[in-house]
Amino acid sequence: MVKVERFVEKAIQEIKEQVGDGKAIIALSGGVDSSVCAVLAYRAIGDKLIPVFVDTGLMRAGEPERVKEIFGYMNLKFVDARDEFFNALKGVVDPEEKRKVIGELFVRVFEKVAEEEKADYLIQGTIYPDIIESQGGIKSHHNVGGFPTHYTFKGVIEPLRELYKDEVREVARYIGLPEEISERMPFPGPGLAVRVLGEVTPEKVEVVRRANKIVEEELKDIPKWQAFAAVIGRATGVKGDERVYGYIISIRAVESRDAMTAEPLRLDYEILRRIMRRITEEIPEVVRVVYDITPKPPATIEYE
Ligand code: XMP
Repeated sequence: MVKVERFVEKAIQEIKEQVGDGKAIIALSGGVDSSVCAVLAYRAIGDKLIPVFVDTGLMRAGEPERVKEIFGYMNLKFVDARDEFFNALKGVVDPEEKRKVIGELFVRVFEKVAEEEKADYLIQGTIYPDIIESQGGIKSHHNVGGFPTHYTFKGVIEPLRELYKDEVREVARYIGLPEEISERMPFPGPGLAVRVLGEVTPEKVEVVRRANKIVEEELKDIPKWQAFAAVIGRATGVKGDERVYGYIISIRAVESRDAMTAEPLRLDYEILRRIMRRITEEIPEVVRVVYDITPKPPATIEYE
């Protein structure tokens, strides 16, 4: 990347020129790409930018609240769509079907706001590897060039299209985004839904949300690509004097360069024990905790 100052100046100028007197909309998840785009666009067009945060109910602990705190100075539209997402996911067990249901509902919720606001332009945090992967047919979930929406925009603006992830992080630091955003680990678009095997229910998502928080807290100082928890099934356990049928949590912590391959961390046994203890004590619905030692391949990083 040319100098970061120069990139930021140019990106702001381009957004200003393209949007002109119109309005632009962006789906702001709080991830590094969409956050950087939102800040650049806000500096370019101020309140003519409508950042939309869709609360799917599938975000990590505290994420919706942090987005409100960090981006509250913008003309933020916060959409609580939790019930809609959980209703749509009822009875859906197939992983691909799950992703499809979530992706389509997300677009529907988002385009409704675009219509209400009469947005002219769509701003997206597409980065260079997304474009390459879409061309190569590796991943189709990036929506390069715009969402498959019924609403017609005058244009799609992708200010980060020439940047790699580490360059986006550099821009994030430069424009003053907090570390929790600039250094954030990857988080899948369908959220915690892909960290719950089988049907997604509010109860399972709450269990996995609390377990994710514990894993992130306990491993915050350990270098890694990603660390998280997933609900992988149910098993029998004993709590107090009673046999109970509770959840099995799997902990995943991997090192990777580009997510194409990954190697599990050789975590210290005492750290694993502490995580197990906290999860089983703080989340009564969990009776068993396992550590996943499978590299990618043959496994993937996420569970679905
Ligand atoms: P897998 O599980 O395929 O994941 O080994 C590779 C990397 O991609 C992330 N991931 C996603 N990111 N939308 C995204 O934006 C998705 O649907 C999605 N699925 C997986 C995953 O967290 C890992 O870093």
